[in-house]
Amino acid sequence: MKSFKVFLLVGLLIGAMGIMSMAATFSIYDWWTAGGEAQAIATVLNMYHQAYPDVTIVQNPVAGGAGVNMQAVIKSLIFAGVPPTTFQVHAGWEMYQYASANLLQPITNLWQSEGWTNVFPQRIQQICSYNGQFYAVPMDVHRANMIWYNKAIFDKLGLTMPTTIQDFINMLPKIKAAGYTPIALGDSANWTTAMLFEETLLAVAGPDKYNQYFEGKITASDPAVQQTIQYFKTELQYVNPNHASLTWDQACGLLVSGQAVMTIMGDWANGYFMAAGWKPNVDYGGVAVPGTEGIYNLVVDSFPIPVGAPDVQTGYDWLKLIASVPAQAAFNQIKGSIPARIDVPTTGFNPIQVANMEALKKDVLTASAVHGSEAPVAFVTDWENALTVIQYHPDMSLQACVNLLNMTAQQDNLAGTVASANVNY
Ligand code: GAL
Repeated sequence: MKSFKVFLLVGLLIGAMGIMSMAATFSIYDWWTAGGEAQAIATVLNMYHQAYPDVTIVQNPVAGGAGVNMQAVIKSLIFAGVPPTTFQVHAGWEMYQYASANLLQPITNLWQSEGWTNVFPQRIQQICSYNGQFYAVPMDVHRANMIWYNKAIFDKLGLTMPTTIQDFINMLPKIKAAGYTPIALGDSANWTTAMLFEETLLAVAGPDKYNQYFEGKITASDPAVQQTIQYFKTELQYVNPNHASLTWDQACGLLVSGQAVMTIMGDWANGYFMAAGWKPNVDYGGVAVPGTEGIYNLVVDSFPIPVGAPDVQTGYDWLKLIASVPAQAAFNQIKGSIPARIDVPTTGFNPIQVANMEALKKDVLTASAVHGSEAPVAFVTDWENALTVIQYHPDMSLQACVNLLNMTAQQDNLAGTVASANVNY
């Protein structure tokens, strides 16, 4: 009996040593491959490596802004039963689609034991949770309603950034007449065109109607949406002719090369410009899209742990790291965004980021539909395609555009889906 116990003990020890020496793997998917964002994620992965040197990190970056390609890859992996340890997902509806199908692990205990409910704003906590449970941890806060401009050309043409969308529209012919592309667009993937519409809608309709539109409570027949369609069609007349062959960051590159003057893009563009060696408020400016001052249109990148994630502890360690003050500071300073935590000092952030950190405290918060937060994913996909149809048929009547947009909302049962979802607005 005694020798059996010794045998058992030795066996257990060997087993434990085996487990200890088996290096854990942390596998992560993200779509941060452009200038600025690639450096930002590399910096945090390096922090992770410093903290957990024995863990093998397998980073799987899938190019395609807004996650257009990565999201398809993740769905295939999950359906095949081989999810990674974690993956980038927009907080809000994009995350809800996994949570509502029980594909993510609830992490409410972690949120509570780490005290995260005290350091992340209420609205962000809402979009990181579904049906009363937390499922994701926010890495950043991006602002979708930003416009970026080449300061040298602005000065040369004697321009100042307008504060209304109508004045912005009025300015476009003047810039074109001076020989520049007024609005840089890179819509090789159509989410960038949809951003033009989304941010214009926010300017025209204001935050309440904006929310109502994406909740299916008002339709495209509403005068504010009709006005948005008209502005959107006008804006599209002032973009670079090669827009369909460029990505969002290549479009930003047109500002750096001095071919284009402005671009409407989230503040990942801020990270791109910094990585390109441009100085904020010297070479480029970035402010709220005209008519949206005082509104913060949120885009929140977050990370969940899928059900069946391998080496799950490495995932929890990742979540703890990215929620920490040092990681939120290091990542967002490079990324162009601002921390999701409210207690990160402004030191080390550029002046555009500091202004946004102030704005977040007092602005009305809305959330981006294009970037997965504000509206159901199926609707957004169809709605973006409808906008592309409008883009490529400039002769479509206003009524035909309204009908097309209304049809997408109806066929996807936007109002019903939003009303019946277990989400907290
Ligand atoms: C957004 C994402 C940002 C940035 C951008 C371009 O959807 O939230 O972090 O990566 O796409 O890829």
